Amino acid sequence: MAVGRLDGKVAMVTGGAGGIGSATARALAREGASVAVVDVNGEKAAHVAEAILGTGAIAVGVQADLSEEPDVAAAVRATVTHYGRLDILHNNAALTDSDFLSRDTKVTELSVEVWERTMAVNLRSQMLMCKHAIPEMVRNGGGSIINMSSGASLKGDRTRTAYGVSKAGVNTLTMYVATGHGKQGVRVNTIVPGLIITDAVRAHLTEHMLEGLGRATLTPYVGEPDDVANLVVFLASDESRYITGQMIAIDGGMSSHVGSAGRDDD
Ligand SMILES: NC(=O)c1ccc[n+]([C@@H]2O[C@H](COP(=O)([O-])OP(=O)(O)OC[C@H]3O[C@@H](n4cnc5c(N)ncnc54)[C@H](O)[C@@H]3O)[C@@H](O)[C@H]2O)c1
Repeated sequence: MAVGRLDGKVAMVTGGAGGIGSATARALAREGASVAVVDVNGEKAAHVAEAILGTGAIAVGVQADLSEEPDVAAAVRATVTHYGRLDILHNNAALTDSDFLSRDTKVTELSVEVWERTMAVNLRSQMLMCKHAIPEMVRNGGGSIINMSSGASLKGDRTRTAYGVSKAGVNTLTMYVATGHGKQGVRVNTIVPGLIITDAVRAHLTEHMLEGLGRATLTPYVGEPDDVANLVVFLASDESRYITGQMIAIDGGMSSHVGSAGRDDD
């Protein structure tokens, strides 16, 4: 039997029922990790876990609203009870519901309710997951945490103020947690994706928008969930053992050039 890069490791993937989270859960499991697929949508999380089990790999679904500390504590406890340890955390859950995001606007129109809910789900959940996962990781000599940010955390926009600020908080959280727990063997990095074409994203994109995106990326294609999943596997594995506290963009080079790249005269 082939040796996986993550044989014997245990991983939690939050937002594991979603587009990127489910791809990550599958990739980690394929590399030999036992995976807890954690999501507020317990039915979908169970479905992702079942599909992984169907491939002969190991997974379990866990329902939790990760904006709430008792749910976070229970999800970590359930994972450790089930598998006996915890080595990897992909901190990936976020509010992506388009109705909710349509209310995340310019600051003059932004309600406190939208701001608070965004911070609770996108940022507080990642802090709480670190808080409860790290003691379990340290018990076995350390681990790897991969936080999910967004290119929206690095530049301003006319909309989605709360989303961008919540993800900027994730960038800073990563550096603090990496600094606080590095000597205990815990590495923490942030993935900063540009647009990733999940099924849900694809359903909202017009041909015109896809064409514009194609011009903004330097690659001949736009990224998909498996591109992120491959990076998570690398950051979870010992191959990345000297990388911590970093923000790593995965955006087809979108953030690395001025707007002229991809012009018709290229
Ligand atoms: N897809 C992109 O283009 C893109 C770009 C930049 C960053 N990201 C980030 O990648 C991550 C995954 O995004 P996606 O596109 O796969 O979205 P998605 O909507 O498919 O997945 C998000 C998952 O998080 C879950 N979730 C929401 N609130 C939760 C809560 N309180 N507790 C537990 N789970 C909760 C949802 O149920 C969903 O399954 C997010 O952090 C997102 O901000 C995505």
